[in-house]
Amino acid sequence: MGKTVILGAGGRLGAALAREWSATGEDVLAFDRQSLPLGDPARLEQALGDVDFDVLVNCAALTNVDYCETHAEEAFKINGESANELALLCEQKNARCVHISTDYVFDGKSKTPYKETDAASPISVYGASKRMGEEAVLAVGPNHWVVRVSWVFGPDRASFVDQVIARALNEDKVDAVNDKWAVPTYTLEAAALLWPFLRQVPGGGILHLANTGACTWQEYGQHALDCAAKAGLPLKATKVGGVPMESIKAFVAKRPVHTALDTSKLLNLGRLAPRPWKEAVEGYVHNRVAAGVWKPA
Ligand SMILES: NC(=O)c1ccc[n+]([C@@H]2O[C@H](COP(=O)([O-])OP(=O)(O)OC[C@H]3O[C@@H](n4cnc5c(N)ncnc54)[C@H](OP(=O)(O)O)[C@@H]3O)[C@@H](O)[C@H]2O)c1
Repeated sequence: MGKTVILGAGGRLGAALAREWSATGEDVLAFDRQSLPLGDPARLEQALGDVDFDVLVNCAALTNVDYCETHAEEAFKINGESANELALLCEQKNARCVHISTDYVFDGKSKTPYKETDAASPISVYGASKRMGEEAVLAVGPNHWVVRVSWVFGPDRASFVDQVIARALNEDKVDAVNDKWAVPTYTLEAAALLWPFLRQVPGGGILHLANTGACTWQEYGQHALDCAAKAGLPLKATKVGGVPMESIKAFVAKRPVHTALDTSKLLNLGRLAPRPWKEAVEGYVHNRVAAGVWKPA
């Protein structure tokens, strides 16, 4: 088997993929932002020019949606142009590029879960910059994958689940948005689901990878608290109140309202079924309690 290069290995998804795949015996060469900053083709050549690899998974991105909205040039450079440079390098080496992207490439107007064949129509700089990266990777050759994930959570970097539980442990009141829907994606499960697409599944194209179902942030948070209560955590707040998205003054960028991803292609090609999002969140909370991150009363 060949070597798998992972970029963005200091982040939530990249760290999980690097650890989980290394543990199964995969030959992984992982780079974080410091060891390979994107946006500098000379550094890319220096780091990977002489490396013999057959798969490159790019998890590195500017992921702060509001930061991107006010730093468009940087967002297009890192999320767009860099993806092109990576895919060209892969093509040169006859390697497969697996480029991670986002549900934010959709405008969120469809209440039916989005399929890979649905038209992208981003409504933010982040979404547009990620779409630019997708188009660049797909244009370079037919054997590269653009893998869209949504609401990523896992043990390597805190996300919404961790924030809700942390707040509920310390505060009497927890609120979350109740008029925006998507699907959580558990990084440890993503590692298993994505693995067949590195070498086994032929071809390339767009792939939606997430747990199944859909929820609002409020439902997501409420389920996290229910799991935390079941695990015996001493919560001060046990209910998540609902607030409309327009009340969140900190949001600079527009967010798409409905972006549940249809994962039937993932199941058909990869032959592995993602779990419903509620089971994935319960598994995560259970693992974090078992690891001593959150302590029962
Ligand atoms: N998080 C989500 O809910 C979500 C939803 C949909 C799609 N996605 C996509 O999933 C992928 C992985 O995201 P994630 O959740 O793992 O986010 P993350 O934790 O923010 O990871 C992204 C990583 O990219 C690194 N990075 C940023 N700018 C860079 C640069 N110029 N050069 C090299 N590395 C750079 C970051 O470095 P630092 O460690 O310095 O920050 C971070 O380690 C991204 O493509 C993202 O667009 C994420």
